[in-house]
Amino acid sequence: MKITILNGSPKGDLSVTLQYVKYIEKKFPQHEFTTVHVASTIKKLEKQTEAFDEVIETVAKSDGVIWAFPLYVFLVHANYKRFIELIGERGAQEAFKDKYTALLATSIHFFDHTALNYMQGTCDDLHMRVTDYFSADMDDLMKANERARLLTFADHLFTSITEKRLTLRVYQPIVPTIRDYTPAHIESSLDDQGQRIVIVADTLDLEQNLGRMVERFRKLTQADVIDISALDIKGGCTGCIKCGFDNHCMYGDHDEMERTYRRIAEYDIIVFAGAIRDRYLSAQWKTFVDRRFFKTHQPQFPGKQLGYLISGPLGQLDNLREILLASAQLDRANLAGILTDEYETSTEIDQQIEAFAGNLIDCSSKHYIRPQTFLGLGGMKIFRDDVWGRLRFVFQADHRYYKKQGLYDFPQKEYRIRAKSLFLILLTKIPVVKKSIQKDLKIHMIGAHQKVLRDKE
Ligand SMILES: Cc1cc2nc3c(=O)[nH]c(=O)nc-3n(C[C@H](O)[C@H](O)[C@H](O)COP(=O)(O)O)c2cc1C
Repeated sequence: MKITILNGSPKGDLSVTLQYVKYIEKKFPQHEFTTVHVASTIKKLEKQTEAFDEVIETVAKSDGVIWAFPLYVFLVHANYKRFIELIGERGAQEAFKDKYTALLATSIHFFDHTALNYMQGTCDDLHMRVTDYFSADMDDLMKANERARLLTFADHLFTSITEKRLTLRVYQPIVPTIRDYTPAHIESSLDDQGQRIVIVADTLDLEQNLGRMVERFRKLTQADVIDISALDIKGGCTGCIKCGFDNHCMYGDHDEMERTYRRIAEYDIIVFAGAIRDRYLSAQWKTFVDRRFFKTHQPQFPGKQLGYLISGPLGQLDNLREILLASAQLDRANLAGILTDEYETSTEIDQQIEAFAGNLIDCSSKHYIRPQTFLGLGGMKIFRDDVWGRLRFVFQADHRYYKKQGLYDFPQKEYRIRAKSLFLILLTKIPVVKKSIQKDLKIHMIGAHQKVLRDKE
């Protein structure tokens, strides 16, 4: 059986994910594996069409494909995303159609599900037959039970191919619904109430809805504009994690990324603007997002108001919405709103842009930060535990930051609550007390709340 591995790590052969693939190869010597380093050679695949065609030819001739990729900032690496875009741009979908495939990811399980959802959607769009996904922690290969699990996953792919098993489709195709947006003339701009506003856009092209939305927002708010497509970006994140020690990117001052992020963070209101390509924003956008990692696991925009102007069918892409929400929460910012061009008329979009801008200014002047949901709270607990533990050696800057900002909020340190719990547990060992507590549990649960209602203003 011929299996093609599409490696999504920018580290090529030094990829952690690839070690999982190599283990599968070792245990299934009867199959022929061909690895293509898609992410680390993306420049070549973009420039030399014959190199890209060779990859597609390899896929076409194989019995199965393993998409093997690391998590990079809620998704796959920007270069892997670019490869997926190239498949569409160059009309190479046929090679993937009806091909059996499996998704193999490594990560620290921080939003691994959003990357897997994205890849599942991509495979569904390509009409591939996804047998399964496997999300390994980056260190799982050292555990015997996880290695056994990995082999079962791989075997499932090979057996499905042999037996031509039916697979499930998870995502339906995206239905195009976006109309042309033509903004009306603006009479006057809004009062920004002294809030500094910036809009960071993937494009300013007025031929596109996004460019026109950005222009309308800019005219309304007099915001400064940063055009990502005009920035000097020397390359994507290489995964070197040199930034872990002192939050400086290996590119340093050789390009504008670090400077740009530091500049953006000085504004009170930050509006990001991008157009949807496949099931995320563009690969250029993802490069911009990946390069934020010089701040590693620290919030990038604490206390700021964020907004998104999105052109495209976000209403059909809950996964992308979740990524945008989660990212804002992890940044300790307030995501005041996400506005898309999914409206029937341009007038509605005009009105929405005005309301969107007004809401951002209002929230900013009130310093309002909405409480986090599971996305921010759960994600932060993963960071906290890993930065305190196994990742501390490399991510020393995070460790210093977490200590200083009191982010090591382990419950073990809450001695008062621990003592109270111990006391109450001991009390419940007395049957009559336990019975009485159980009887009045609902009342006990709101005791402290009622005290606040009585005592506080
Ligand atoms: C820039 C960068 C971003 C990352 N983003 C995530 C992430 O969002 N979620 C996660 O669980 N792990 C994340 N990781 C951890 C990697 O996914 C993990 O170390 C993976 O095993 C690396 O695989 P590779 O060596 O094949 O590239 C990130 C690592 C880097 C360097």
